[in-house]
Amino acid sequence: MDQDMSCTLVTGASSGIGREFAREFARRGSDLVLVARSGETLRELSDDLERKGVAVHLCAEDLGDPESPSRIYEYCRRKELRIGLIVNCAGFGFAGRYGSMAPDLIREMLQVNAASTALITRLFLPGMVARKSGGIINVSSLSGFQGVALIGLYSATKAFLLAFTESLHEELKDTGIKVVAVCPGYVDTDFHARAGQQPEASMLPLSGAGVVVKAAIRGLLRNRAVVFPTVLDALLVFLQRFLPRSTVLKMAAFLAPLREK
Ligand SMILES: NC(=O)c1ccc[n+]([C@@H]2O[C@H](COP(=O)([O-])OP(=O)(O)OC[C@H]3O[C@@H](n4cnc5c(N)ncnc54)[C@H](OP(=O)(O)O)[C@@H]3O)[C@@H](O)[C@H]2O)c1
Repeated sequence: MDQDMSCTLVTGASSGIGREFAREFARRGSDLVLVARSGETLRELSDDLERKGVAVHLCAEDLGDPESPSRIYEYCRRKELRIGLIVNCAGFGFAGRYGSMAPDLIREMLQVNAASTALITRLFLPGMVARKSGGIINVSSLSGFQGVALIGLYSATKAFLLAFTESLHEELKDTGIKVVAVCPGYVDTDFHARAGQQPEASMLPLSGAGVVVKAAIRGLLRNRAVVFPTVLDALLVFLQRFLPRSTVLKMAAFLAPLREK
């Protein structure tokens, strides 16, 4: 890769897509900083990755804590780690009527899925700008392209990531820093069980985390603003151009793996 691969920071590295990012960048020879709450799971992953000959730094943090991005930055600064690439992957969903969502959960989701990503990016960006080199991968979702009933706040956080990524991509395009949003449909991870949704209730196929990672890296190398892991993901968004918005919203709700009990 022509990115500054000195060290890659991956949030949400303990599971699913984030873990796959960590594995792939280790395979490509990048040292890693892994972030998630589950310190023990991160430790097991790091033992495995270090056998591949890369250095792995563990930063067990709860990104729902507004101070966590500063602590992560400080951790890297103290260890004199040069972060050449950030993968903002941590995130979670909540399936159910918005009126039943607890206020604390709302705050946590906005913090983890949106605010912490924005803050981590802000803290590490000046170093990249100074070096005229770097990359940022934000894990958005197909649900960021329209509202999705029964998982509305999650969908809004993914729309935030999409707009944030596109803005940064344009703003940084002549600086040597590449910024891409990867927008998966349904991926086979723990996400669905954690969110309380049933992927088997959707007609859309589940793809593997590896497909998401490969698409994101390809997008970064080609300096794209937005990439889709599968042809179907891209087609679903492309079709929106020809449909009334009300139909798009109905389709999104219909295809979502959510059924009220
Ligand atoms: N799976 C899908 O169908 C799908 C589709 C589109 C987009 N995405 C996005 O892909 C990303 C990864 O999700 P996944 O599918 O891989 O799900 P996952 O297996 O549940 O992984 C979620 C990751 O986020 C971390 N995380 C959650 N809350 C956190 C917190 N408060 N502080 C720190 N880390 C936290 C989790 O680590 P800990 O629990 O250890 O903290 C875990 O590593 C998410 O942003 C999700 O929105 C997923």
